[in-house]
Amino acid sequence: METVAADNEEAVEAWSGVLFDRWAKHRDVLAVSIRPFSDAAYGLCRPQPGERVLDVGCGLGETTLALAEMVGPDGEVVGIDAGERFVDAAAEEAAANGIENVRYVTGDVQVADLGSGYDLAFSRFGTMFFASPVAALRNVRSSLRPGGRLCMVVWRSKLANEWLHRGELVVDQYLERPEETDEPTCGPGPFSMANADTTSDIVTAAGFTDIALHRCDIDYLMGDDLDKAIEVVMAIGPAGELIRLAGDEAEKIRPKLEAELSDAYADLVRDDGVWAHASTWIVTAANPG
Ligand SMILES: C[S@@+](CC[C@H](N)C(=O)[O-])C[C@H]1O[C@@H](n2cnc3c(N)ncnc32)[C@H](O)[C@@H]1O
Repeated sequence: METVAADNEEAVEAWSGVLFDRWAKHRDVLAVSIRPFSDAAYGLCRPQPGERVLDVGCGLGETTLALAEMVGPDGEVVGIDAGERFVDAAAEEAAANGIENVRYVTGDVQVADLGSGYDLAFSRFGTMFFASPVAALRNVRSSLRPGGRLCMVVWRSKLANEWLHRGELVVDQYLERPEETDEPTCGPGPFSMANADTTSDIVTAAGFTDIALHRCDIDYLMGDDLDKAIEVVMAIGPAGELIRLAGDEAEKIRPKLEAELSDAYADLVRDDGVWAHASTWIVTAANPG
């Protein structure tokens, strides 16, 4: 069986390399910033003691461990991620903490054998990077028991997340988007499920029923101070991607970009950090069997 779909190879290369490095480096901020979204999602899908859960695109495994606590010793959570380094780091952390009801698997969700009989497939920002989302979600559905549920958190549009778009607009003034680059890109990208109609069509085509998109907006912590927030903006997200793809051209003007971005985000600084308004869909659905 294929381990990575040909059309996902580039994204998997990105997630296994440079994007892993960046997520690991900024984990201190990211884990805190995005946690309210998964907390809201747990409230909607209500993982129960004894359930078996698949954590799709589990990354460093924060949601995997939270779900493991909810399903308890009689349940099990399997975290799957295409990035081997994410899986290794997550598995090491679970082992170091003596967590026994989790397991981690390396695989491309679009083609991997995911197993079967899960009660819940959960994902926090792990389903927007598949080249063929219908095929991937169909694969996820086939791993669920009849009546099993899907719960995934995905970004709403760039415009609904003006704080993310703002950085990209600043960087866009100084850098050309290269037509060709050796740098791998992350696939369809963080906003690929932002359109409610498209996403509900994808989920429907994957065979799910009872589809609902719940809008979830939060106050989002970009960093404890402006320097940290700008460091993350320049590493991850639309501005970070533009800088990464521009390579040397961006490096030559890094101090200028830092200064311009700091000005652009100054109004979001509060005494307790840099806070933005962030917006997602939490998509819930069921496997009819
Ligand atoms: C934005 S990160 C989110 C990580 C994690 N769910 C969290 O909330 O911290 C996206 C994750 O999806 C994974 N991913 C991307 N494409 C994938 C694929 N085709 N199959 C499995 N995982 C994939 C990446 O390796 C990455 O860990």
